[in-house]
Amino acid sequence: MSGLRGRDFLTVTDFTQEELQEILDFAQELKADRKRGKHAPLLQGKTLGMIFHKASTRTRVSFEVGMVQLGGYALFLNGADLQSGRGEPIKDTARVLSRYVDGIMIRTFDHADVEELAAYADVPIINGLTDFLHPCQAMTDLMTILEHKGTLAGLKLTYVGDGNNMAHSLLLACSKLGMNVTIASPQGYQPLPDIVQAATMDAGKHGTTIEVTTDPVHAVKGADVLYTDVWASMGQEAEHQQRLQVFQPYQLNAALLAQAAKDAIVLHCLPAHRGEEITEDVLEGTQSVVFAQAENRLHVQKAIMALLL
Ligand code: CP
Ligand code: NVA
Repeated sequence: MSGLRGRDFLTVTDFTQEELQEILDFAQELKADRKRGKHAPLLQGKTLGMIFHKASTRTRVSFEVGMVQLGGYALFLNGADLQSGRGEPIKDTARVLSRYVDGIMIRTFDHADVEELAAYADVPIINGLTDFLHPCQAMTDLMTILEHKGTLAGLKLTYVGDGNNMAHSLLLACSKLGMNVTIASPQGYQPLPDIVQAATMDAGKHGTTIEVTTDPVHAVKGADVLYTDVWASMGQEAEHQQRLQVFQPYQLNAALLAQAAKDAIVLHCLPAHRGEEITEDVLEGTQSVVFAQAENRLHVQKAIMALLL
């Protein structure tokens, strides 16, 4: 029995390097099985509740399809339609849903709400994105890098743009797996110091480096992996216009890409805003692997569900 059974997946910091590696290995196995048309019914008869307080394409579809491929069933629960949308406490929702389903995936705003859900639920809680973290995406990104580069340890990932949930989860996940991480963000939009500190501690164990800078050109020098994400995340729509100005020098375009390693790959968690954080030519270019990356959400989350539920 895996040591992951029954655990929550709120942040990669709760897992050892070996446990994260176990998830990645299993995801690759499940992907290979699927390519051979094999679907082991590892979650036969099990049900996943999926609570969404924000929009989603990839997360919703990949969790739901993944659950079906594993022989289980997934319920889409629109946050606005639940009684919690009318004030029922999270702690009550947690205990009620725990009596019906075998696991809960939640996408919401406040990370503390996910922690409260996990504290009161008897079933594993999976973080499908909060304002603070997006751990399933970061695991997917590691899998994608591993597939395209053959290794993780010692590689350099540079993230250019907003120091948001994606930047946080990449810092935590990549540092744990022995990668160097550089973040280039404008002043006032850099990742939280606690996250940078946690990543730096992990980097210390591997002899790798974590760097946060305001200089995108310096940041991408020698990068094996370039990553960007939207400049205005879900919930920040009112700041969109102002952010367009602030982030303009951080656009991932051909000129910036040319400063990275020749064989660098380009990742983006999607959805992408072409002409904002990334240009059309880079997103659709030969170095971009964003759709292979999107596919891997399915395989990684199947591994997470099959190991936890
Ligand atoms: N990358 C990601 O989480 O996509 P969705 O918002 O479509 O789920
Ligand atoms: N930072 C983005 C990621 C979307 C998958 C957001 O939170 O909207």
